[in-house]
Amino acid sequence: MAKATHNLPLMLWIFLPFLLLNIANRVHCFEEKKVLVLNKFQWKQQSNVPRCLSQKSRREKNAIILEMKPWDYCFGMIKNWDAKLQSRLIFDNNRVQSLQSRIRKAVSSRIEDQSDTQIPLSSGIKLQTLNYIVTVELGGKKMMVIIDTGSDLTWVQCQPCKSCYSQQDPLFDPAISPSYQSILCNSSTCQSLQSSTANSGACGTNQRTCNYVVSYGDGSYTWGELGHERLNLGTTAVEDFVFGCGRNNKGLFGGAAGLMGLGRSDLSLVSQTYTKFGGVFSYCLPSTETDASGSLTLGGDSSVYKNSTPISYTKMISSSELSTSYFLNLTGISIGGVALQPPGFANGGMLIDSGTVITRLAPSVYRALRAEFLKQFSGFPPAPGFSILDTCFNLSEYEEVNIPILRMYFEEAVEVDVDVTGIFYFIKTDASQVCLALASLSNENEIGIIGNYQQKNLRIVYDTKESKLGFAEETCSFV
Ligand SMILES: *[C@@H]1O[C@H](CO)[C@@H](O)[C@H](O)[C@H]1NC(C)=O
Ligand SMILES: *[C@@H]1O[C@H](CO)[C@@H](O)[C@H](O)[C@H]1NC(C)=O
Ligand SMILES: *[C@@H]1O[C@H](CO)[C@@H](O)[C@H](O)[C@H]1NC(C)=O
Repeated sequence: MAKATHNLPLMLWIFLPFLLLNIANRVHCFEEKKVLVLNKFQWKQQSNVPRCLSQKSRREKNAIILEMKPWDYCFGMIKNWDAKLQSRLIFDNNRVQSLQSRIRKAVSSRIEDQSDTQIPLSSGIKLQTLNYIVTVELGGKKMMVIIDTGSDLTWVQCQPCKSCYSQQDPLFDPAISPSYQSILCNSSTCQSLQSSTANSGACGTNQRTCNYVVSYGDGSYTWGELGHERLNLGTTAVEDFVFGCGRNNKGLFGGAAGLMGLGRSDLSLVSQTYTKFGGVFSYCLPSTETDASGSLTLGGDSSVYKNSTPISYTKMISSSELSTSYFLNLTGISIGGVALQPPGFANGGMLIDSGTVITRLAPSVYRALRAEFLKQFSGFPPAPGFSILDTCFNLSEYEEVNIPILRMYFEEAVEVDVDVTGIFYFIKTDASQVCLALASLSNENEIGIIGNYQQKNLRIVYDTKESKLGFAEETCSFV
């Protein structure tokens, strides 16, 4: 053997370093890509309402863990998936526009002009964004509600209803619930509506009830009166929970009884349960293409999480512009291990939102990301763009593809790898049009948003007490 080594031709000695470098590179590339299996349509076509109404919950230590399912899973029954996947993006854009206009208004003037903060309400719009559902018990009745970190007031549709969309559970009827009480319009609770909903409370016709309005900007809204009631989150009862009894609700929450607001202001569920759960909640959003459950965990004992990597925390940036929302400091992005070098990082916070689907980046950042992605994901047939998504491929001939890892860096050296199911959005279910699931904002001054499509299979911990947000990898499941 030794002899053979001695006899190695000179050429090989010269090329050996290059050879090793080449191998190292390959290993490196291998580490920075992940396989995506292109399931050409395993989506369930049936509705699983009974399954969702009996979503489970459990108590572990001081935390309550609620099972969580994607909206599609619960209320599926969709005939034309392609049309649905497409319209979802359009409504997603409406939500982003309205978030941006709320921020702009708050920046340009601290004086809230009520007529100005009312977003135009378009009727008949069906919200078809990717939302997540949990089951809670209000006044002893089970209700499926959508979780939303971008708003505060929790509400359900109420009897007698002036205008309600169709929902699966019977409507909540305050008249037959002995634990329900309406909230007076001269109370401080009624006054806190201004900061929680951007609309001040108003006295009802009998000069006693406190009327509220919340509009969500994707055309959906709820109006009604504030009340309090016993809320059961799994086995934990929250007495006198303040919520909206919605008598005029439009839209988009199709099938669900209402919405659970997980924002930061006084009326949010997080603030109202502060003494029980210490202002901490977390979730793991499951991939929408599977039957997997996710979980919403109230309470901050991290030993109850099922994370596979340690939780690392970045601080929340406080923003007076949108005090109810959660902002982070995104300091960098890499694609397949290659750091992007645009000038646009750290020029402000990034909002993290459970109700926006597609992540939005400043134009300079998005351009750099797209260029690097196309460099590494090359040789695939292109497909036309769709709506806000401009980088698309026809992958109908492939069973699986290797895609570069998208990694986000946040202040305090936090690194988050986006789950492989969060990179491509399927416009066509046969994979003949799949698009990079990120989009550009319309100008550099708008605020970036981390959407739910890029939050899948992560444990995301919102700690409002310590004002920090934690990330860890977790394959979502309830058990
Ligand atoms: C609110 O109004 C009710 C009667 O409508 C009155 O009894 C109560 O004292 C008022 N509360 C406050 C805080 O002004
Ligand atoms: C974000 O983090 C960077 C790097 O630590 C820092 O220079 C910048 O001031 C931070 N931005 C904000 C808005 O906190
Ligand atoms: C996608 O590619 C397949 C196979 O090459 C082709 O038959 C099909 O027409 C393409 N579809 C689109 C929408 O371009």
